[in-house]
Amino acid sequence: MAEMVVIDRSGKEHRVTGRAGTSIMETLRDSDFDMAAICGGMCSCATCHVYVDQEWTARLPAAQGDELELLRELGSYKPNSRLSCQVTFSDALDGLKLAVAPDE
Ligand code: FES
Repeated sequence: MAEMVVIDRSGKEHRVTGRAGTSIMETLRDSDFDMAAICGGMCSCATCHVYVDQEWTARLPAAQGDELELLRELGSYKPNSRLSCQVTFSDALDGLKLAVAPDE
């Protein structure tokens, strides 16, 4: 089973089993990381914001369009920011490391 390494808002690291073919947001939301994901993955709320570890950013398709626009409006935006509802997990992402961004 492919896993993600998730750092919660308190800085604690967790290993979480990812579900291939579903968005990372769905796994985080269902794993109790206090991720609101208000819009349910429609790329309109930015409450699924995460920071992808630098080693992994180039291995994901780049953020584009609405995702990038939303991210850049956030005060907590960083170059490695992603909306986790816009990233689909796969077994190839085993070991993906990310941190849940602060609530805005
Ligand atoms: S869940 Fe709303 S933008 Fe990702």
